[in-house]
Amino acid sequence: MIVRTFPLVAASVVLAAALALPVGAAPTPAATPAGQWKSPQEAWEKTCSRCHLTGVGPELRGRALPPEYIQQVVRNGMLAMPAFPHSAIDDATLNGVARLVSTSKMPKPAAKR
Ligand code: HEC
Repeated sequence: MIVRTFPLVAASVVLAAALALPVGAAPTPAATPAGQWKSPQEAWEKTCSRCHLTGVGPELRGRALPPEYIQQVVRNGMLAMPAFPHSAIDDATLNGVARLVSTSKMPKPAAKR
């Protein structure tokens, strides 16, 4: 009995594998392709500001942080801050974000402290 059904079982395993493979091998839809951001401003508002304007991360505005430093921190992460790979933010956008942050001013009311 076992001998007689084995080829059938083996065949269905092969068939299942063949059916499963194309699905498994299909590239996952690129949720965050390079160049996804309309502007550095948008990237800042939808990522960085969610931590850096809410007190989760330190204040970055008005500190004239060097753009190179900002890019390094974003790409590599820094302690509690996650790293952002190229799939999350492309070089051109990060470049713009770094310049935006670097040249940003602290808004007036908060500057009174
Ligand atoms: C999930 C929250 C989070 C997000 C999103 C985030 N950061 Fe941060 N960031 C942090 C935290 C927390 C720190 C402080 C790290 C530490 O020293 O522990 C930090 C630190 C930094 C620093 C170093 C500040 C200093 O005082 O030297 C820079 C620069 C920075 N982030 C830039 C960015 C930029 C640009 C983005 C958007 C691409 C971004 N961060 C997105 C949480 C975040």
